[in-house]
Amino acid sequence: MGALQKVVVVTGASQGIGAEIVKAFRKLDYRVVATSRSITPSADPNILTVAGDIGDPATAQRVISEAVAHFGRVDTLVNNAGIYIGKPFTENTLEDYNSVMNVNMAGFFHITKLAVAEMEKHASGHVVTVTASIENGISGASMALAALTKGGLNAATRALAIEYAGKGIRVNAVAPGVTKTPMHAEEYHEMLGGFHPLGRMGEASEVADAIVFLDSAGFVTGEILHVDGGQSAGR
Ligand SMILES: NC(=O)c1ccc[n+]([C@@H]2O[C@H](COP(=O)([O-])OP(=O)(O)OC[C@H]3O[C@@H](n4cnc5c(N)ncnc54)[C@H](OP(=O)(O)O)[C@@H]3O)[C@@H](O)[C@H]2O)c1
Repeated sequence: MGALQKVVVVTGASQGIGAEIVKAFRKLDYRVVATSRSITPSADPNILTVAGDIGDPATAQRVISEAVAHFGRVDTLVNNAGIYIGKPFTENTLEDYNSVMNVNMAGFFHITKLAVAEMEKHASGHVVTVTASIENGISGASMALAALTKGGLNAATRALAIEYAGKGIRVNAVAPGVTKTPMHAEEYHEMLGGFHPLGRMGEASEVADAIVFLDSAGFVTGEILHVDGGQSAGR
């Protein structure tokens, strides 16, 4: 019975979009390995939590080895951990740059390597990364540091999809518009909603729905699925 249950690893799982992704996969009866710095143990025996900084290769190593030790395999990796620093570009410090690179880039690199190596053992798997709808700048918002990382992740998604297609491993991304999570204080919600042609912010559950769809979409790889109220289509 247990052997048929799929196993998903979710990074940045303690709140916001990551917490919704965990809920969505549990509804589908996946076993979940949930990681973030502050994550605490779950009462649900099908959720294993591993606490650590995702930019640290030792965290990635612990997450993947505990997934295999407890649940036997890794079917899906959701790279969701990410931070946004919205200062005007010239005001970003070296610490700001290093923090964003640590979570958004190193956080993708270390765990994706280990998860894909694990997926190769059973010639199937899916990596889906939460990037951002940043192809077009937004007048009035500071997006360049975010674009440096999320644009790279969108490009790496397509490159990895091609590199691993022959090995049964799919690689996709979901690119959200501005989404209601603790990342944005409520006082800005109305203004942020106005960035999208649909006239509102996205819900974290709408991003999670797109991830679950991609996980079930066996003929979709190398796709950047925008969940952005039309933002990438034009304004
Ligand atoms: N909300 C938006 O408007 C929006 C728009 C586009 C893209 N996104 C992307 O969506 C993803 C999720 O964002 P969100 O809005 O849900 O953010 P959030 O509410 O701020 O949550 C971020 C998550 O990442 C974890 N995290 C942060 N730094 C970490 C680190 N060093 N090591 C491990 N985990 C870390 C946090 O947990 P701990 O604090 O416990 O570590 C938390 O679980 C991010 O990749 C973000 O870039 C969000």
